[in-house]
Amino acid sequence: MKITVFGSGYVGLVTGACLADVGNDVLCIDIDADKINKLNQGIIPIYEPGLEAVVQTNHEAGRLKFSTDVAEGVKHGLFQFIAVGTPPDEDGSSDLQYVLAVAEIIGSHMQDYKFIVDKSTVPVGTADKVRAKVLETQQKYQKDVDFDVVSNPEFLKEGAAVDDFMKPDRIIVGTDNPRTTELLRALYAPFNRSHDRVIAMDIRSA
Ligand SMILES: NC(=O)c1ccc[n+]([C@@H]2O[C@H](COP(=O)([O-])OP(=O)(O)OC[C@H]3O[C@@H](n4cnc5c(N)ncnc54)[C@H](O)[C@@H]3O)[C@@H](O)[C@H]2O)c1
Repeated sequence: MKITVFGSGYVGLVTGACLADVGNDVLCIDIDADKINKLNQGIIPIYEPGLEAVVQTNHEAGRLKFSTDVAEGVKHGLFQFIAVGTPPDEDGSSDLQYVLAVAEIIGSHMQDYKFIVDKSTVPVGTADKVRAKVLETQQKYQKDVDFDVVSNPEFLKEGAAVDDFMKPDRIIVGTDNPRTTELLRALYAPFNRSHDRVIAMDIRSA
């Protein structure tokens, strides 16, 4: 499957590398040009057991690419993962500016159906804000392109991130229709072979 991951930090890089490792065609996007240059040279910006080998193998095989070109990112993937940071705001709530910036990028560049998967840690109601931002941006550019927004929070632990992603104890998928639940089930099937780790629910519950 064709996958774009916005945000090539801890969660985005591990997600992109592990999804490439099971055969997907993954493009990781970041606005940090230095990070992308390093990744393209095989330099991993974080230390995480096993990650370097997974990144290198899949990068060399052409299944894992890195770029700062956001338009290319939107064009590439049916799946558009949002894995950017959500630092605490001044009042302690999550700062959603990076998440909504990605929603705006997707809305402004999309030409065909996109499946937007929020992997960042966000408060209840964020999927509605992402959907509203994509629609608002489409209207600005006089577009009317179909899309879905789903919630798929990440629970990996730093220090065991690759293992946690490859052998998750649960995969939470929050969707508002059976079709998107099935798309996520298909995506995660390779990580889900011996036991069903997918727990499906509505978006707000996820
Ligand atoms: N690190 C963890 O252990 C962990 C575990 C579970 C969940 N999370 C959550 O996952 C999310 C990401 O966390 P992280 O630790 O990977 O953050 P990070 O800071 O390591 O990476 C975020 C990346 O997003 C990039 N970015 C910002 N705006 C962008 C844009 N518009 N387009 C493309 N890239 C952009 C940044 O340059 C940065 O490289 C957060 O919501 C975090 O709470 C983190």
